[in-house]
Amino acid sequence: MRILVTGGCGFVGSTICIGLKEKYRNFEIIAFDNLKRRGSELNIPRLREHEVSFIHGDVRIASDFDRIDDISVIIDASAEPSVLAGIEGSTDYLIDTNFSGTINCLNLARKWKAKFIFLSTSRVYSIPQLEHVRYVEDETRFRLLADQNCAGASDNGFTEDFPTGGYRSLYGTTKLASELAIEEYHHLFGLDTIINRCGVLTGPYQMGKVDQGVVVLWMARHFWPKQLKYIGFGGTGKQVRDILHIDDLVSLIDFQLSNFDLFNGQVFNIGGGLEVSISLRELTAMCEEVTGNKIEIIGQPENRVADIPIYIADTTKVFRCAKWQPKKGVMEVLKDVFIWLSNDETRLKELLS
Ligand SMILES: NC(=O)c1ccc[n+]([C@@H]2O[C@H](COP(=O)([O-])OP(=O)(O)OC[C@H]3O[C@@H](n4cnc5c(N)ncnc54)[C@H](O)[C@@H]3O)[C@@H](O)[C@H]2O)c1
Repeated sequence: MRILVTGGCGFVGSTICIGLKEKYRNFEIIAFDNLKRRGSELNIPRLREHEVSFIHGDVRIASDFDRIDDISVIIDASAEPSVLAGIEGSTDYLIDTNFSGTINCLNLARKWKAKFIFLSTSRVYSIPQLEHVRYVEDETRFRLLADQNCAGASDNGFTEDFPTGGYRSLYGTTKLASELAIEEYHHLFGLDTIINRCGVLTGPYQMGKVDQGVVVLWMARHFWPKQLKYIGFGGTGKQVRDILHIDDLVSLIDFQLSNFDLFNGQVFNIGGGLEVSISLRELTAMCEEVTGNKIEIIGQPENRVADIPIYIADTTKVFRCAKWQPKKGVMEVLKDVFIWLSNDETRLKELLS
């Protein structure tokens, strides 16, 4: 196989490139990236060490793909991935990368009859609907009730049937628009496609920042002690997300590559599910345990734009299709991040502290 991974120097892209290359030495893997994300450049030597080739290119520019030929798979992991992207200033970069960039990738897939795997997001779901799901407030977290009045919602989380109508952030909108285009290319041109709607992915090599990569941000602020804030929902830190270790995503993608027909033309919610879910407050306690440090955390009751109180992927569909289940729990994720920070402290401190 000859696989092109766009955003191949990013957190998700680089881990997929290296994970696949470690397992399949005979695969030819190309990481394509414009290095827009700060810290992505640190992955170039790692990719090189693993014999993954790197092409500096931009998905917004179709002709940047002219250097690429004869590929059998495209994994599209390039994006401006922040839910706050485009809110201040121009929306051009976000839309050009996350939507037009996907179209360029689809055209490249069409040209080479390559299979196409898209890293989408749970942010395609409607914010007004997510704000109105029924939950109770426990001591450390919000908890979904079994009795919901909306399609696709239960105490187990949200399925692929949860509404996408209504606003969903500019980021979520660019991803949903890409999903629609992918569906068209699948039906019109017979392209083999998989859409993975991921929730919070995390693990080593994620360059966590305030608006993206919350688990690494939380660990880093405990590791190099620095203040944090519980923003929104009363400022108590009870908002909940499920999280997925990046290695678990890589093992799913590996399975999808070798069993493409099981997934072809479909959309899947991907995440750790209820079992691997955590509130910010609980995350604080675990970061304290792993690092041995306690930091100041300020409550800021007002909600941030596009934020939601609770998201948990109901992964019944992908579990059924793939017989895949995440192997790593929250504590394992945090320990892996801790080891990564400890081993590369000097370089990472500048970026993450
Ligand atoms: N990390 C998560 O929690 C998460 C959750 C859901 C979905 N996703 C999706 O997974 C994919 C990867 O996200 P990530 O967390 O690795 O983000 P990331 O920022 O670490 O990686 C994205 C990469 O894309 C590159 N890039 C940005 N604009 C580009 C352009 N115009 N041309 C070429 N390369 C460009 C960046 O330099 C970066 O290396 C994205 O599509 C994102 O929407 C991520």
